[in-house]
Amino acid sequence: MRKTMRMMLVAVLVTGAAGTVSAANFVQGQQLYQMHCAACHGGRGEGVMPDAPKFRMGERLDQPDMILMQSVKSGKKTMPPFFGILQDAQILDVLAYVRTLR
Ligand code: HEC
Repeated sequence: MRKTMRMMLVAVLVTGAAGTVSAANFVQGQQLYQMHCAACHGGRGEGVMPDAPKFRMGERLDQPDMILMQSVKSGKKTMPPFFGILQDAQILDVLAYVRTLR
């Protein structure tokens, strides 16, 4: 419960910081992350698979969303392409969540 509250707070902060019309859906991003990404990148971004960036350490997160989204869509090395599996908006939701793991 406490964790949920913290997540919600982060969501508010992230949304506020972005200050855009299309605020990322943090909760959906979290669910998608657990479903599609956690196996390699770790439930908390600790990086399970060798070579998978540790988002918790901020690895690769110094790049803009559009660049990261491109990598996720087309795949990179052992990361499979998510084109056709996730829509752009969903990937942006996941990236918004990923940035909170830091
Ligand atoms: C099969 C394992 C695997 C899965 C599943 C996976 N990744 Fe990756 N991911 C990797 C590896 C390995 C790399 C590092 C590739 C490289 O060396 O450039 C990576 C790199 C990345 C990067 C950095 C790309 C860049 O340009 O530097 C991002 C962002 C990323 N993954 C996000 C995701 C997201 C979001 C998901 C879920 C939708 C996901 N990954 C699923 C293995 C995976």
